Amino acid sequence: ASTAEGDRYEMVQTEVDAEIIPGFQTRLWTYGGTFPGPTIESRRGRHVTVAHRNELPVPTVVHLHGGRTPASSDGYPTDLVLPGGWTETAPHGHGGHAMTDDLAVVTNVQREYGFPLDQRATMLWYHDHRMDFTAPAIWRGLAGLHFVRDDVEDALGLPGGDHELPLMIADRAFDAEGQLAYPSLDPTLTGEIGVEEPFVAGVLGDVILVNGAPWPVHEVDTGLYRLRILNGSNARHYELEAVTEDGRKLPLVQIGADQGLLAAPVRHERLPIAPAERYDLLIDFSGLPVGTKVRLANRLGSGRTADVMQFHLVREGASGAIPETLADDLPEWDRSAAAAVRDIAFRAGRMDGRHGWLIDGLPFDPNRIDVTARLGDVEVWRLIADVHHPVHLHLVGFRVLSRGGGEPLPHDAGLKDTISLRPGESAEIITRFDGYRGRYLFHCHNAEHEDMGMMANLEIV
Ligand code: C2O
Ligand code: CU
Ligand code: CU
Repeated sequence: ASTAEGDRYEMVQTEVDAEIIPGFQTRLWTYGGTFPGPTIESRRGRHVTVAHRNELPVPTVVHLHGGRTPASSDGYPTDLVLPGGWTETAPHGHGGHAMTDDLAVVTNVQREYGFPLDQRATMLWYHDHRMDFTAPAIWRGLAGLHFVRDDVEDALGLPGGDHELPLMIADRAFDAEGQLAYPSLDPTLTGEIGVEEPFVAGVLGDVILVNGAPWPVHEVDTGLYRLRILNGSNARHYELEAVTEDGRKLPLVQIGADQGLLAAPVRHERLPIAPAERYDLLIDFSGLPVGTKVRLANRLGSGRTADVMQFHLVREGASGAIPETLADDLPEWDRSAAAAVRDIAFRAGRMDGRHGWLIDGLPFDPNRIDVTARLGDVEVWRLIADVHHPVHLHLVGFRVLSRGGGEPLPHDAGLKDTISLRPGESAEIITRFDGYRGRYLFHCHNAEHEDMGMMANLEIV
């Protein structure tokens, strides 16, 4: 519903059975009955309210990833929407939620989230963020896309309509009955140090889904297309390339990052994408004959995971021009303006005698503020990683200043909200904490690492 005040959506979080693998029904947890959830289209600065009702068998939390959102609607991991039949017994303990038959105690089966969306045009995504249980909830289907549009983007005349393709790439594993398989739900895997722990690094699937369908084929014309790509996987990294059957590589022309348009396009032959990162790409099929098949391939995969999807060129299309310049509103923060320079380490360690993923040696604790930043301050953060960690900050976008002591990589261009730290690597990012005061998060967006402690509180005062 739309009024002068903004747009309002209602979403029911509900279990559905859907056919993902041909011939099988898979039980999913969904926003609004579909996986991915409904795609929301918004205009910059126009207020959006989303009323969520939880009909799932577990508590949930909704977070709009990349949104500049007041803390009260940012989806703090203990700010639960309880389902029918649940009560909170220990809101701040690991796994301290219990079932009850006492329906009378349930008060918040429904809640409204408010999003001002006063931010650059980009593709955001919403997903579950419940403490200790984010990874299995996303795995079961709690994720959807949310576009923010603005006049800057409109003025560029980029491909739109059926020439703009949102692509949520996410791997999943299925058991013999076609149900989602999530290894940490297997009680034989205890997670003790020294014990075989296949999920500690993060859960991988052998089936690559794009918008919920395995290895889809999309029919296109020989024109210019805009691909809005999200890596919605829990833990899988991809290196994407577009290649014809005879081995010709098509350039992936990056026009935007997590937080909106770049200043100018960057051409990639292949493009790494870590969990939660987004890329806004142009791909030009003109010059290829009708009948050509183009594979979107994953160079980091092997066997079936080396494929993502295919484009089949089935008709002639109008060629379009790639703009030479894009946006001139990218923030340029200078190192010399930084009120603080922080070193923050993302490393494995022990947590309650088990394997944990820690930030500066500590697992997540909702009652401990880890970083306090002043509203309006510019800060430089030096992030250090032991293994691959895609590090995400809530509320703000940042620029990448350096990587491994050198220049940022080509795909670090623009305004980001998630940076893929490679094994043993350090990187510097710079941001300005503007928007809202309150308690926010930063964390690793390998969803299993996040659940195993690699998350921290950022309070903006
Ligand atoms: Cu996708 Cu805390 O975020
Ligand atoms: Cu986020
Ligand atoms: Cu990690």
